[in-house]
Amino acid sequence: MRIALFSARAYERALLDELNVRYGHELVYFETMLGPETVALAKGFPAVSVFVNDIVDANALKHLAEGGTMLVATRSTGFNHIDVQAAESRGIKIVRVTEYSPNSVAEFAVGLLLALNRKIPRAYNRTREGNFSLDGLMGFDLAGKTVAVIGTGKIGRIFAKIMAGFGCHLIGFDVYHSPEFEAIGGRYVDADGIEDADVISLHCPLTPETHHIVNERTLARVKRGALLINTSRGGLVDTEAALEALKSGQLGGIAIDVYEQEAGLFFRDLSSTVIPDDLIQRLVSLPNVIVTGHQAFFTREALGTILDTTLASVSDFAAGRPLVNEIKA
Ligand code: NAI
Repeated sequence: MRIALFSARAYERALLDELNVRYGHELVYFETMLGPETVALAKGFPAVSVFVNDIVDANALKHLAEGGTMLVATRSTGFNHIDVQAAESRGIKIVRVTEYSPNSVAEFAVGLLLALNRKIPRAYNRTREGNFSLDGLMGFDLAGKTVAVIGTGKIGRIFAKIMAGFGCHLIGFDVYHSPEFEAIGGRYVDADGIEDADVISLHCPLTPETHHIVNERTLARVKRGALLINTSRGGLVDTEAALEALKSGQLGGIAIDVYEQEAGLFFRDLSSTVIPDDLIQRLVSLPNVIVTGHQAFFTREALGTILDTTLASVSDFAAGRPLVNEIKA
């Protein structure tokens, strides 16, 4: 099948070409994101593949349907960038990658926590300049501390298991209670229960219910000096409110791999430009903030599974087989 792949990076193309030998699709790569200005490029492609910041809203889906697209395959687990209802009404099927190495994201979240708490990036930068002072580098032991896991699904549970290995107490907040989380010592609390946490890590999807789940009100109630880790979706955190909480010392630090306004920034080299987003500029200037550019998924294992699953889903669609990774409204 002819597939138009948007937001296709060089590292994906090489691997896709290699994997596609087995599937025999016709792959056409577009570096650009799918959006109102670029949707015309998809005309005539029965299948379109997108990534997390592509805009697959009702307008894009209208144009895709008119251009003959029948399948949109997102190379991600999250699908908050797709209007699934609009796709269904246009008769376009949506598939995602339901599961790919949840370890990749969970391990990265732990890495961010350690880097933030023990100030490893600051120490790294200092020693390169010949500065071996320890001033300002003090962290805290994770053993014995309370870690709140918001969203105890596949990624959240692996994160929780690793934190249990550090000797942390685990509390969880989720609409669904996982026996596996409880079996590793996790205790479910309601939203107010996260007040006890020294560390809060977000692992739930972005939905209308979870949008700004961390906001001014929740931040006012967390333990003073708590650390916040977000490897899930930027829209879960009210970033302005987080910045205020950092300035007042209510939050001890934040490490984010995702950012509310990441669509115009992430996955590109903007180092030679003036970045017009004042919020991200203020965030990266603070010593107790770490920002990474949506790389938690980026391991050899995860990327291989993502791309292979995407090609397999298109083959299933072409052959009229059931779509195991289909998202329905
Ligand atoms: P999952 O579906 O296994 O787990 C999500 C959990 O969130 C479920 O237990 C669900 O019940 C819970 N949840 C849903 N609505 C909730 C609510 N209103 N309040 C509290 N909990 C709620 O998903 P998985 O695989 O663990 O992925 C989680 C998220 O991680 C994805 O939705 C995606 O946004 C993000 N992600 C980020 C990546 C990155 O590279 N930074 C890569 C992959 C996923």
